[in-house]
Amino acid sequence: RSVLRNELPGAEVMVISNREPYIHNLEDGKVVLQRPASGLVTALEPIMRACGGTWIAHGSGSADQTMVDEHDHLLVPPDAPAYTLRRLWLTDEEQDGYYYGFANEGMWPLCHIAFVRPTFRASDWEHYVAVNQKFADAVVAEAKTPNPVVLVQDYHFALLPKMVRERLPEATIITFWHIPWPNPEVFSICPWKEEILSGLLGSSILGFHTQFHCNNFLDSVDRFLECHIDREHSTISAGGCTTQVRPYPISIEWPPAALSVQPPVEECRKSVRKGFGIGRDTMLAVGVERFDYTKGIADRFHAVGSLLEAHPEWIGRFTLLQIAAPTRSRLSAYRETQDEAEKAAEAVNKCFGREGWLPIILVPRHHEPEEVFTLFRAADVCLVSSLHDGMNLVAKEFVAARDDDDGVLVLSTFAGASRELREALIVNPYDVRAMGEALHMGLSMPAEQRQERMRLMREMVGENNIYFWAGRMLLDAARMRKRHNIEHRIA
Ligand code: F6P
Repeated sequence: RSVLRNELPGAEVMVISNREPYIHNLEDGKVVLQRPASGLVTALEPIMRACGGTWIAHGSGSADQTMVDEHDHLLVPPDAPAYTLRRLWLTDEEQDGYYYGFANEGMWPLCHIAFVRPTFRASDWEHYVAVNQKFADAVVAEAKTPNPVVLVQDYHFALLPKMVRERLPEATIITFWHIPWPNPEVFSICPWKEEILSGLLGSSILGFHTQFHCNNFLDSVDRFLECHIDREHSTISAGGCTTQVRPYPISIEWPPAALSVQPPVEECRKSVRKGFGIGRDTMLAVGVERFDYTKGIADRFHAVGSLLEAHPEWIGRFTLLQIAAPTRSRLSAYRETQDEAEKAAEAVNKCFGREGWLPIILVPRHHEPEEVFTLFRAADVCLVSSLHDGMNLVAKEFVAARDDDDGVLVLSTFAGASRELREALIVNPYDVRAMGEALHMGLSMPAEQRQERMRLMREMVGENNIYFWAGRMLLDAARMRKRHNIEHRIA
């Protein structure tokens, strides 16, 4: 907020994302508010609560349309209104082509090296272009000033920066890509690679989680577009527009709102074990994800099998509680992921389970942030085994939940978070035996070492929190605006 007040006085802030921060669903005739399982929303929502402005998103809940006024605007959060949520409605055809098709069957597997073949259909592309245009129109219609700060989120909107730039040339457009960016070889299979790249180059600033993804992007532009690249300053100039490409590792609110309503750790340990029928003295690992093939859920179940085989002393004394929210279930790759994970859990349970004890408890439903934080506080270990992940905020939330400075994080080397959370036990999720050993190490770690590691990780997340992330981008944007003003005065 202070960066906005001091460095960008009077600037209007607009966020554009596919996912909305508050979903209204109809359950038994009643409207029930849900907060989506989305790293993007976890990160951006506290910023909007602090800064105010307008968030434009796709209205996705079964009761959403009943919750808005005739102009589709809603003041949120419901209990302490701070910013405007403008929802756009998409037809089933648009949703199939733009979201399920191009974004999630094309761009998602293209950018994650998870060995699911990307599918590109001309009809999906047409919807993707049309929906990007629809959102760009909404930005122009909602903008109250000629130079708003527009925060574009993710792979759903690669074309929107250029579309907005053409109509609001003075806007400061900050685009953040929440998923990895592949190398040029991989990227080259996208039939609309030039359009995607030049769409993104409508941004003033383009952010990725890591320097590695920035380099991949610069290399892709170098290979496929005619433009000037200044590697030293990490800028790209094309069509009279300059884009700065920078790493901004995303983070979470600190301290997280969900922490303020948590009972003491000892109570969480007892209530979670009781609630799930887990023995009082059983060591507990937790996993919390969406049912996505990039998260390596079946792999971690195999790792539990490997742990119990190599270290039978844990039989009857250890349980992995896996929460997995079904997601994008219209796509076969996602249904298969859930199927495969359920089968893997069953196999391990059948092999090692016994009367009154299961090594894996799989709960395939959405959980609200407060419930998730209670699980984190109840756990001895949190297991994040993504096969490929831009950042992974579950790892950071686990650390944030542990104000008792305890608990062990086992973290995939292929999650962006492993670059920052160096005191986690870093694993290769493709190596099931090594993951089993890391679990063993985590479960056996002396208290003093656990606490030392957790304290260092908490320091890291506490300092590099979501306000720091947003502040760095906004400061870079402010410098850019000032430079632009000086150049205009000189001209
Ligand atoms: O982090 C990547 C991401 O696509 C977010 O942008 C998104 O909110 C999250 O995964 C969940 O996906 P979806 O919004 O499609 O359920």
